[in-house]
Amino acid sequence: MSAQLIDGKASAKNWLAELAVEASVLREQGIVPGLAVVLVGDDPASRIYVRNKGRAAAKAGVETFDHQLGNQTTQTELIALVEQLNADPAVHGILVQLPLPQHLDADVILDRIDPQKDVDGFHPDNIGRLAQGRPRYIAATPRGCMRLLKESGTNLSGARAVVVGRSNIVGKPMAMLLTAANATVTLCHSRTIDIDQEIARADIVIAAVGRPCFVQAQWLKPGATVIDVGINRTDDGTLCGDVDFERALERVGAITPVPGGVGPMTIAALLANTLTAASNSTLAFDSALA
Ligand code: GUN
Repeated sequence: MSAQLIDGKASAKNWLAELAVEASVLREQGIVPGLAVVLVGDDPASRIYVRNKGRAAAKAGVETFDHQLGNQTTQTELIALVEQLNADPAVHGILVQLPLPQHLDADVILDRIDPQKDVDGFHPDNIGRLAQGRPRYIAATPRGCMRLLKESGTNLSGARAVVVGRSNIVGKPMAMLLTAANATVTLCHSRTIDIDQEIARADIVIAAVGRPCFVQAQWLKPGATVIDVGINRTDDGTLCGDVDFERALERVGAITPVPGGVGPMTIAALLANTLTAASNSTLAFDSALA
């Protein structure tokens, strides 16, 4: 039997329509939700992501401020831009596209973003809040994955979940969110011994390692829900995920495709965070006047 396809493209479209309504309410209050997108260098994949974010933002009623900087941009120049965006009242959210060129220290840069404008949810303040179960902004990819899990009807409470990959962007926040949703979570990584056996026990698998077809179909528990975060380009130019999708389809209960799974949800989640930032800015304004 073939698995349920979890259609992130359709789901993100619905989400963007909901966000457009929220944005129009804010606009009626005189607030134009604004997202600054900073791209340093000429990484082709990053350029495509940034372009897609801009298109989706327009659909959701979010204004974007694009800052495309050259490969030679210094740490001091980038920090100066971040400080300028922190101080700009038209900018509610700031996104610095990763990866940055090697001479720049991403941690130092991300630490300088105002946590109230950190719609990526990468600032230690926001990660710390998530760890404590009182999130401000949830990193976009994990937030999108959680929404897909919910929409697929997957039961999380008491379920065994395996997250493959321990990045700050996906793996770690994903493990925290699943834990908060009462799943029993195992976080696997490159040093995990017998990873196939860990995956075989999982009712839910989140694959976020960035290696094409890393998760083999025969490792997966029949009926499991699989969320594939990987976007890898193969030698023939096609995109594929971290899971052997074609074979997994015949075995699991539900699975996201690549493309058209997690990718569009990440963008919608980022815009949802931006609208939260914009509406929080009114709250701050209201309380200043009270
Ligand atoms: N690079 C890959 N994913 C992301 C993301 O969610 N946010 C940022 N800023 N950069 C990324």
